[in-house]
Amino acid sequence: MSNENPGHDGKKPLFVFPAFHNRIPLLLAPVLAIAPIGLIGAIWYYFSPNFTDVGYQPEQPVAYSHKLHAGDLGIDCRYCHVGVEKGPHAGVPPTQTCMNCHTAVKKDSPLLTPIRESWVSGQPVPWVRIHKSPDYVYFDHSAHVRATIGCESCHGRIDQAIEVKQEQSLSMSWCLECHKAPEQHLRPRGTATVMGYKPEGGDQLAAGTRLKKDHNINPPIHCSGCHR
Ligand code: HEC
Ligand code: HEC
Ligand code: HEC
Ligand code: HEC
Ligand code: HEC
Repeated sequence: MSNENPGHDGKKPLFVFPAFHNRIPLLLAPVLAIAPIGLIGAIWYYFSPNFTDVGYQPEQPVAYSHKLHAGDLGIDCRYCHVGVEKGPHAGVPPTQTCMNCHTAVKKDSPLLTPIRESWVSGQPVPWVRIHKSPDYVYFDHSAHVRATIGCESCHGRIDQAIEVKQEQSLSMSWCLECHKAPEQHLRPRGTATVMGYKPEGGDQLAAGTRLKKDHNINPPIHCSGCHR
């Protein structure tokens, strides 16, 4: 946040217009075609970067705990979220993944009744989706995992979460804040799922700047990068 201009009240950061801001009306046209309230939306998003769904934490059908499984048991995120390195969607695991262990572990636990029922019936567990970008936004997990942004940068300390909630706004200004300064988040390859990561020497800016250069990282800030 420190690299952004302060807002009128000296606290809230304003959207920092990129160099091509004078072309926005032109570039907005195709976006407007797919987003009816686009113009109002644009103004809203540019000047209200703090509009968020942060904290959204719906009740889930099973009391599944990331703290227990990803934290205490140390199961890697990719064991369950198998799509996260391969394409746009991380995916939520099928019942079979749970049953890999729970045919033996806690096999009679009442907390696992919905999982056993789903296994017998073949009906998926109705997990409630928490993070959702609008359809007119293009987001791909694999590009971020490959460039090596930690899950933690966008989802927080999931390994400490008994119930997952939305940690970040997922707003346009949030995306752009990182796209303009990815060095604040870049990690060495292969460390995307590490929780509580600390850069070597403790200096994220120095390490990130080096990684940005070495791996030629250049996230899109032009409109069509995310609105295709
Ligand atoms: C044993 C399987 C398992 C492991 C390991 C696991 N998850 Fe999950 N994850 C789930 C399930 C099941 C859900 C859906 C229920 C929920 O939201 O808690 C989920 C949901 C999520 C969500 C919210 C999805 C949404 O609807 O928006 C995020 C984010 C997430 N996991 C991140 C992670 C991260 C990061 C790790 C590694 C630190 C991880 N998970 C490890 C099973 C797992
Ligand atoms: C790699 C093995 C493994 C996988 C995969 C796994 N679990 Fe677990 N789960 C455990 C262990 C171990 C415990 C803790 C047992 C204990 O407390 O002694 C546990 C405990 C639980 C509990 C608490 C049960 C109770 O009675 O206290 C729930 C609920 C649960 N798991 C749900 C799930 C769900 C849902 C999935 C799939 C998304 C899943 N687990 C996948 C190993 C696993
Ligand atoms: C750059 C930010 C960012 C990073 C890094 C990131 N996510 Fe996400 N995640 C998002 C956004 C944005 C959404 C909503 C995407 C959508 O609606 O298509 C999301 C959605 C999800 C979901 C639910 C929807 C789906 O795609 O299945 C899961 C599960 C998830 N993330 C897990 C992870 C895991 C595990 C990692 C690390 C390996 C990770 N994410 C890394 C931003 C991120
Ligand atoms: C914490 C940092 C961070 C956040 C937050 C972030 N990104 Fe990125 N994004 C990156 C990096 C790093 C790359 C990789 C650039 C490269 O490889 O040159 C990237 C690449 C991309 C790409 C190009 C990759 C491709 O598949 O074409 C798109 C599109 C994108 N991000 C969309 C988004 C959207 C939409 C959001 C917000 C919902 C978002 N990003 C949030 C860091 C971030
Ligand atoms: C890094 C990714 C990214 C880039 C680059 C980007 N956007 Fe967005 N944009 C988003 C995301 C994500 C949202 C949805 C925000 C939300 O749901 O809170 C959004 C929302 C919007 C909306 C709001 C639509 C509505 O109906 O509310 C408009 C309009 C828009 N963008 C126009 C633009 C224009 C014009 C540009 C180029 C100057 C641009 N965007 C560049 C990610 C991006």
